[in-house]
Amino acid sequence: MTRFGVFGRVRSIFLATFLTFSFQGAYCELGVSPAGPSLVNTKAGSNVTLAVRFSGALDPAVTWFKGNLPVVTWTVGSSAAPDISHREVLRIESDGSLTFVNVPLNYTGIYTIEITKSGMGKAATSFTLGVFETIENLEVSMQPSFVKEGTEQFTLRYKMSQGVVEQQMWFFNGREIETSLHFSIKQSSLVVFSPNRNDTGQYTALLTNPFSRVRAHFNVTVRYGPDEPVVKALPAQPFYVSGDSLSLRCQAEGFPQPIAEWVFGGETLSQSTDGVLNRTNIQTSQGGIYTCRMFNEETEEKRQKNITLSVYEMPSSSPKCSVHSVNGNVDLLYGCQWQGGTPKATLSFPDLSSGSGVGNFSLVLQPASADLNGKTVICMAVHPVQSKQCNITARSPRELLPAVRTTVDSEGKIVVAILCVSEASPEAVVSWSEGSKDVTNSTSYQISNDTTQLNIRHYNVSNFLLQNYTCICRNPLGSQRREIQLQGPLISHSSVFPNEDGTIITLTWEVPPRSVVTGFDIQLKGPDLNQNRIGIQNRSTSNKYRTIQQKPGSARSTDIFIIDPSKTRFFRVVPRALMTVGEPSESHRRGPAQGLSGPAIAGIAAGIPCSLLFLLLVGALIYLCVYCNKNQSRQTRYPVSRAVEKTITTQSDLTPHNLLTGELKSPPDYNRLHQTPSERSVALPTFVPPPPVRVATTV
Ligand SMILES: *[C@@H]1O[C@H](CO)[C@@H](O)[C@H](O)[C@H]1NC(C)=O
Ligand SMILES: *[C@@H]1O[C@H](CO)[C@@H](O)[C@H](O)[C@H]1NC(C)=O
Ligand SMILES: *[C@@H]1O[C@H](CO)[C@@H](O)[C@H](O)[C@H]1NC(C)=O
Ligand SMILES: *[C@@H]1O[C@H](CO)[C@@H](O)[C@H](O)[C@H]1NC(C)=O
Ligand SMILES: *[C@@H]1O[C@H](CO)[C@@H](O)[C@H](O)[C@H]1NC(C)=O
Ligand SMILES: *[C@@H]1O[C@H](CO)[C@@H](O)[C@H](O)[C@H]1NC(C)=O
Ligand SMILES: *[C@@H]1O[C@H](CO)[C@@H](O)[C@H](O)[C@H]1NC(C)=O
Ligand SMILES: *[C@@H]1O[C@H](CO)[C@@H](O)[C@H](O)[C@H]1NC(C)=O
Ligand SMILES: *[C@@H]1O[C@H](CO)[C@@H](O)[C@H](O)[C@H]1NC(C)=O
Ligand SMILES: *[C@@H]1O[C@H](CO)[C@@H](O)[C@H](O)[C@H]1NC(C)=O
Ligand SMILES: *[C@@H]1O[C@H](CO)[C@@H](O)[C@H](O)[C@H]1NC(C)=O
Ligand SMILES: *[C@@H]1O[C@H](CO)[C@@H](O)[C@H](O)[C@H]1NC(C)=O
Repeated sequence: MTRFGVFGRVRSIFLATFLTFSFQGAYCELGVSPAGPSLVNTKAGSNVTLAVRFSGALDPAVTWFKGNLPVVTWTVGSSAAPDISHREVLRIESDGSLTFVNVPLNYTGIYTIEITKSGMGKAATSFTLGVFETIENLEVSMQPSFVKEGTEQFTLRYKMSQGVVEQQMWFFNGREIETSLHFSIKQSSLVVFSPNRNDTGQYTALLTNPFSRVRAHFNVTVRYGPDEPVVKALPAQPFYVSGDSLSLRCQAEGFPQPIAEWVFGGETLSQSTDGVLNRTNIQTSQGGIYTCRMFNEETEEKRQKNITLSVYEMPSSSPKCSVHSVNGNVDLLYGCQWQGGTPKATLSFPDLSSGSGVGNFSLVLQPASADLNGKTVICMAVHPVQSKQCNITARSPRELLPAVRTTVDSEGKIVVAILCVSEASPEAVVSWSEGSKDVTNSTSYQISNDTTQLNIRHYNVSNFLLQNYTCICRNPLGSQRREIQLQGPLISHSSVFPNEDGTIITLTWEVPPRSVVTGFDIQLKGPDLNQNRIGIQNRSTSNKYRTIQQKPGSARSTDIFIIDPSKTRFFRVVPRALMTVGEPSESHRRGPAQGLSGPAIAGIAAGIPCSLLFLLLVGALIYLCVYCNKNQSRQTRYPVSRAVEKTITTQSDLTPHNLLTGELKSPPDYNRLHQTPSERSVALPTFVPPPPVRVATTV
């Protein structure tokens, strides 16, 4: 102790004594203070002394308290044994200091020494004793052991086999955790409220006391997910065409990685963690809603999401446009069809209306307006894959050419078929009349299903010639009318072609288009065909025409074989309608011209002046005709085929009626109805008949 220290102490004692005297009379000050630090830390099991020092009195009574509990009482310097409550641990030193021998942990506390001296009063001072153990085998555990996002909380708690903790600290991934709404640090634990995926990581508990500093880690995994799945189809397209290949992807966040399952039509297609579903050569039946189900095995949470695959297919072929007549052949129905495909095509006629249909669209226009005649109407057929179009043009019936065909039925009746086909769109419906009377189905008349053909049946050809027939072809856009006047059996033109040496001749002929013919008689005048050069001629028969061949109504030529071509022969064709015989064709001479007989010469001699007279008459007639024509300039003249004209001339010149052989029936009654050639040419219908087909065959 230095002199200054002694002096200071004396002075302080003096001061204290002085002050004590000032207040308490003549008493000297009584004092106690720690001889060392008042805060004492020690390891458990060691010896530690809480050292004190007195002043003011020599032998005061000393009492040590642990908290409020007196544990040692003694009077310093007395020979009496101290009163000690925990003898095995506590000991009092001769100077009143308290010693702990092999101090146990539970001796931690605040110890107070109080000294009393009779007549001098009391004094006291306190120590804080910390008894510590080193911290050993620190462990952190979690409660509950399984944490998933969205649960209320989890708790991390530390545990050790021994040790007294003076301070605990918690770290998350190396950063100190402070108490907040999310974290709460309690006694020996850390509570994490509303854990989420971001709370996954390494937690560290750091425990310290004066003798150790120990940390322990715990890795926490917060399970979560699956989150909302993200589904997509690759390549991304608004739709796919059948045959395409694509890949469906499904992804969702989660820990552990959720398992993806693709479901289509109630059927599970694939299960994987990558969520890929490949579809190759996709078909329209595979279009629809695909559901991706995500499942987290640990959290047992599920999520699903749909994706709609549109798989389209072009309709096969092309759209078809049509036009029909409806409502009694008055209105037009435009139709547009494009069958098949996925989805069905949308069809419309933008020129006609704003309406549209799917797959099959039809539009009735009533009444059918004349502007539609010849107008090309386009149907727009719109399909997502490709759009197409078709068009249709409605037309009124065109000018038509009736055709006449004659046959004989099994009952032996003549069947005349008249065909009136007029090009029209929609197809024209034909109505028939005979004279002014409408023709309906009966035993004599049959109208075909499509109305374009009328079949007339009679035994007697005269019945066909009594009335003119009319066909009217009609569709909603207009009509065409034709009158057909049938003619009796007629030959319009005929000719012969011999072969080189004249032994075969080919006879060909034609018939006017409306002539009713069921067959032809080929007739010969002159020596028989098989008669040789020196044969005797039967004059009685060779001077008359006789039938040598019969040909059906369809025949237009025949071959005739002649053994002796040097003889003079005449050939002609006689048309027939069953038993009714028409005018024969012109006569064709084969072989040398016959020498002029006496009567012939006489005839010619008489004929010359007569011819002159005749020429004059003809001149006068021509003048008259020209005059008449001028007056009747309105009267239409129709073109007449040359063939018809030629037949007419030859008929009147060369085949007088009295040339008919006896074998033939007398000219039938139809001749009465028969017009003269000039009349007929005027009466011909307003169309030009096609040039007759000439068929010539040579054997
Ligand atoms: C503490 O004191 C006891 C008794 O005096 C003694 O036997 C023991 O060895 C001491 N312990 C230490 C660690 O000094
Ligand atoms: C300390 O604990 C022991 C038993 O472990 C007990 O006997 C003793 O009384 C305790 N001491 C104090 C001061 O609590
Ligand atoms: C987790 O952290 C990320 C980035 O810091 C943040 O964007 C996200 O919102 C957090 N998640 C939750 C559930 O808090
Ligand atoms: C805990 O996580 C850390 C990294 O975050 C890693 O280094 C360590 O090995 C993990 N410990 C265990 C026991 O998995
Ligand atoms: C799906 O297709 C992709 C390529 O398009 C291929 O890499 C992948 O292996 C396929 N997955 C399956 C499950 O077939
Ligand atoms: C997904 O598709 C399924 C079946 O097709 C259906 O039942 C479900 O309602 C759909 N879910 C959604 C969110 O559209
Ligand atoms: C198309 O529609 C028309 C009129 O509605 C109907 O007559 C026809 O049968 C339909 N065609 C098909 C193939 O459905
Ligand atoms: C009508 O269709 C035909 C083929 O079907 C096509 O050649 C023609 O160009 C079309 N006409 C119009 C006006 O589209
Ligand atoms: C004509 O129509 C009738 C009924 O309308 C039918 O029985 C017949 O088979 C049809 N004939 C033809 C050739 O289509
Ligand atoms: C007329 O009768 C024939 C057969 O008897 C039939 O096929 C045809 O359809 C009928 N025509 C009409 C317009 O009814
Ligand atoms: C044919 O009919 C007409 C008039 O109807 C008649 O004069 C004639 O005798 C009939 N001919 C035959 C062969 O029946
Ligand atoms: C048939 O038509 C022609 C010419 O149009 C006419 O001259 C003739 O008188 C008609 N016949 C009958 C029987 O109406």
